[in-house]
Amino acid sequence: MALFLLLSFSFLFLLSTAPPSAAQTQSFKSLNVSNSPWRATQGSLLLSNNSVFAAGFLPSSQGLYKFSIWYHNISVDRYPHISADYVVWSVKAQLGSSATLSITNTSELILTNGSSPGGNLWPTFTASSQSSAQLVLDDYGNLTFSISTADLWGSFQHPTDTFLPQQNMSGTILISSNGRFSFDSEYLIFNKTEIYWNSKNPFVILIDSGEIRQKNSGDPVYSADLSDMRLRRVKLGDDGNLRIYSYRPTLNQWTIVWQSITELCTIHGTCGPNSICRTDSEGSTYCVCPPGFRPTSYDNYDCERKILLSNTSNTKFIQLDYVNFTGGSNQSNVGPTNLSDCRARCLAKSNCLGFMFKYDGTGWCVLQLDRLLYGYWSPGSAANAMFLRVDISETDNNSNFTGLTSLIETTCPVNLTLPEPPEDSNSTTRNIIIVCTIFVAELLSGVAFFWAFLKKYIKYRTMAQTLGLELIPAGGPKKFAYAEVKAATNGFSNPIGKGGFGDVYKGELSDKRVVAVKCLKSVAGGDSEFWAEVTIIARMHHLNLVRLWGFCAEKGERILIYEYVPNGSLDKYLFRSDRSQTDGEEDKPVLDWNIRYRIAVGVARAIAYLHEECLEWVLHCDIKPENILLGDDFCPKISDFGLAKLRKKEDMVSLSRVRGTRGYMAPEWVKADQITPKADVYSFGMVLLEIVSGIRNFDVQGITGESAEWYFPGWAFDKVFKEMKIEDILDRHIRHAYDDRAHFERVDRMVKTAMWCLQDQPELRPSMGKVAKMLEGTVEIMEPKKPTLYYLQDQ
Ligand SMILES: *[C@@H]1O[C@H](CO)[C@@H](O)[C@H](O)[C@H]1NC(C)=O
Ligand SMILES: *[C@@H]1O[C@H](CO)[C@@H](O)[C@H](O)[C@H]1NC(C)=O
Ligand SMILES: *[C@@H]1O[C@H](CO)[C@@H](O)[C@H](O)[C@H]1NC(C)=O
Ligand SMILES: *[C@@H]1O[C@H](CO)[C@@H](O)[C@H](O)[C@H]1NC(C)=O
Ligand SMILES: *[C@@H]1O[C@H](CO)[C@@H](O)[C@H](O)[C@H]1NC(C)=O
Ligand SMILES: *[C@@H]1O[C@H](CO)[C@@H](O)[C@H](O)[C@H]1NC(C)=O
Ligand SMILES: *[C@@H]1O[C@H](CO)[C@@H](O)[C@H](O)[C@H]1NC(C)=O
Ligand SMILES: *[C@@H]1O[C@H](CO)[C@@H](O)[C@H](O)[C@H]1NC(C)=O
Ligand SMILES: *[C@@H]1O[C@H](CO)[C@@H](O)[C@H](O)[C@H]1NC(C)=O
Ligand SMILES: *[C@@H]1O[C@H](CO)[C@@H](O)[C@H](O)[C@H]1NC(C)=O
Ligand SMILES: *[C@@H]1O[C@H](CO)[C@@H](O)[C@H](O)[C@H]1NC(C)=O
Ligand SMILES: *[C@@H]1O[C@H](CO)[C@@H](O)[C@H](O)[C@H]1NC(C)=O
Repeated sequence: MALFLLLSFSFLFLLSTAPPSAAQTQSFKSLNVSNSPWRATQGSLLLSNNSVFAAGFLPSSQGLYKFSIWYHNISVDRYPHISADYVVWSVKAQLGSSATLSITNTSELILTNGSSPGGNLWPTFTASSQSSAQLVLDDYGNLTFSISTADLWGSFQHPTDTFLPQQNMSGTILISSNGRFSFDSEYLIFNKTEIYWNSKNPFVILIDSGEIRQKNSGDPVYSADLSDMRLRRVKLGDDGNLRIYSYRPTLNQWTIVWQSITELCTIHGTCGPNSICRTDSEGSTYCVCPPGFRPTSYDNYDCERKILLSNTSNTKFIQLDYVNFTGGSNQSNVGPTNLSDCRARCLAKSNCLGFMFKYDGTGWCVLQLDRLLYGYWSPGSAANAMFLRVDISETDNNSNFTGLTSLIETTCPVNLTLPEPPEDSNSTTRNIIIVCTIFVAELLSGVAFFWAFLKKYIKYRTMAQTLGLELIPAGGPKKFAYAEVKAATNGFSNPIGKGGFGDVYKGELSDKRVVAVKCLKSVAGGDSEFWAEVTIIARMHHLNLVRLWGFCAEKGERILIYEYVPNGSLDKYLFRSDRSQTDGEEDKPVLDWNIRYRIAVGVARAIAYLHEECLEWVLHCDIKPENILLGDDFCPKISDFGLAKLRKKEDMVSLSRVRGTRGYMAPEWVKADQITPKADVYSFGMVLLEIVSGIRNFDVQGITGESAEWYFPGWAFDKVFKEMKIEDILDRHIRHAYDDRAHFERVDRMVKTAMWCLQDQPELRPSMGKVAKMLEGTVEIMEPKKPTLYYLQDQ
């Protein structure tokens, strides 16, 4: 016994003298009565047999410790500075330097904060009469406390904010490390009761290949990068979003491969009571107070009324476009109704703090009773407005929020009445039938094809899911039969355009909706891929994107059915050949400066939406005036987005891998550099300059008589910033209407923004979100550098 004590003492002595550095860290495979107690200052680690995971006292700030489990082999060179990205489990208590973890000879697992009272800090008390208890970390990261005959406790049953592969999620609850959000394998919840997301199918397990399986059927709910075996984890972040991270060994970092919520402002509790959440161009959220309110705390988290609603018969409403409050005590639609009726219903209730109304003809009306919670601003969503009830004496026009209302003027009129595609009563069943039909068809055409199909199918399904879509989206785009399309277009008799992707015909569906029918050529892949891509495209909703209503994939045809945008494309308005009358072209009106500005802002917003609000970037790759359609009131709508992906592989990788159009292509296309969203920024810059000048960037040479090295952006730059003659580049058709006082600011912003977009080096160009802000005037624009082309620079 004495010898035993001596041995264990010397063992401990050895451990306690070892400083906690990566090189000298002691590690062991199990904690038991003989190597207890384990001291925080020892710096030793309990390793899993495969060394992928480690458990131990992780030093945090101010010399404190947290007992945690983390990824070991990929972070071993960082120890003890392990960032939260690698930690998968931890005991909440902050521990001092005399903390210990021990297993007693009565098989109790005890975590103490030194000699100070506080008792056992281990999350759950476990004991047994047997003496052979040990604590082991298994290869999956499950910290297990067991005796020879039974498992007493496992960290997998008591998760903190992370699920690991193989961990059974059902029956357990994730809590974000700040304690504000939780996930019970089905709902994301704020403040214990406020549900803000529903997985619809409860999560059960994340399997090694990166797929989340659901209850009962074992079918996948969501899947991330299925490509190969990787380290992955599901984490509920402090921002309330649930994400799957995947470790990229080559980059040595974690990347997000799936997230539950893409519009972060819809997470409840992001902003406090009465406050409205917005997203900046970097994608982070911030809170602003509506007019009539002021922030209550230093961080603008919540807001209070400046003038209390003491006399409810003495109130008025302030309109806040695109604002949605979602936390009133009864959020149900009281409609159908009209605006004045909705307003009257609110006025009739003394606890009504405002109402929301949709301008889409549905008469949707929701009263905000008792409280104003979880407000957010989202111009990409339906045309709705919040009417906020304030005291009649309220004169606040100057809050941080009025910036939003003034932006509205530059977007499209809110009374657009887009008819929604008819609701398909049983779309899920229909989709399953489609999948099965494709499946059977592929099956018949051979086993080899079947495997090819399966691989492709998984890839595209993954893509769809990465974008936050379910496997079989209900209410996706409608599938049309070829005969229907043929009848709608009267046998393709009314062509209205020819695009890079195929010919476009005007048509009318049986429900009288007017449509533009685009027959695609050289489209890659099978029906399933096409369907997956089309589903993604159809899910992109933005006022400034042309809506996709349906598709047809029959007899080798690939047809897309779009909303019909009546006024044609922008190029018809900008580039007016003087021959136009004799050609019998319609005489298009000249766009004035305000409309041009509005078109520029709308297009910028839509591209920013494509680039930034989807987790995976959707590059347009072919932005040019031909692809900017003008709706009623000249509301711009981008077409052909997402189509670049449908192209045949050969088209994309061949020598002319160029997908864009001459004159609008960024220099990196020619240089064969990597194509990033900044290529779209360049094309947009060129369009912007054309909107201002009314001349085609590659057509000007004739007019100016310059040499072959002549470069439109460089020329425009010299005119505006060297010669200070902005008038020289303005569209000659409306030059006379240009009024320095009325138009200078907007035109100047358009020109400066264009110059930044047209920088030769992609890194110098702003992101599309920033571009939109520059045009809106919400950020300052620095003096641009002269745009040059790399092959012109040397001269
Ligand atoms: C206790 O753990 C140590 C280190 O892992 C090991 O060497 C020893 O055999 C274990 N003792 C018992 C009784 O299990
Ligand atoms: C630990 O790993 C080694 C080799 O990697 C293996 O032989 C051994 O069986 C493993 N031990 C346990 C307990 O899994
Ligand atoms: C970590 O362990 C995993 C699993 O054994 C292995 O695939 C990976 O290569 C290891 N990584 C490093 C950096 O050692
Ligand atoms: C543990 O002790 C440290 C000081 O030694 C103290 O800062 C910390 O708050 C204590 N933790 C708990 C949970 O009592
Ligand atoms: C367990 O340890 C305590 C002191 O730590 C000692 O008093 C007791 O005798 C031990 N019991 C057994 C069964 O070894
Ligand atoms: C985790 O450990 C506990 C306790 O040993 C055990 O009951 C559970 O089955 C383990 N879970 C997995 C997935 O290995
Ligand atoms: C997961 O745990 C639940 C209850 O906690 C149990 O009913 C279910 O069988 C477990 N599933 C798996 C795959 O272990
Ligand atoms: C959480 O809910 C309680 C009552 O349900 C409420 O009193 C409290 O203010 C809420 N907290 C936050 C941060 O919303
Ligand atoms: C509330 O305002 C109405 C209309 O101005 C007025 O008639 C009424 O007396 C006011 N009530 C109170 C309690 O001030
Ligand atoms: C407002 O938010 C609620 C809850 O997220 C949602 O159901 C509703 O459709 C939204 N309304 C609009 C007009 O976007
Ligand atoms: C506007 O925001 C600034 C800082 O973000 C804050 O200091 C100011 O009080 C806000 N003003 C109003 C009226 O909300
Ligand atoms: C908006 O409403 C006005 C008045 O009802 C109408 O004249 C106009 O055409 C509408 N605009 C659109 C785009 O529907």
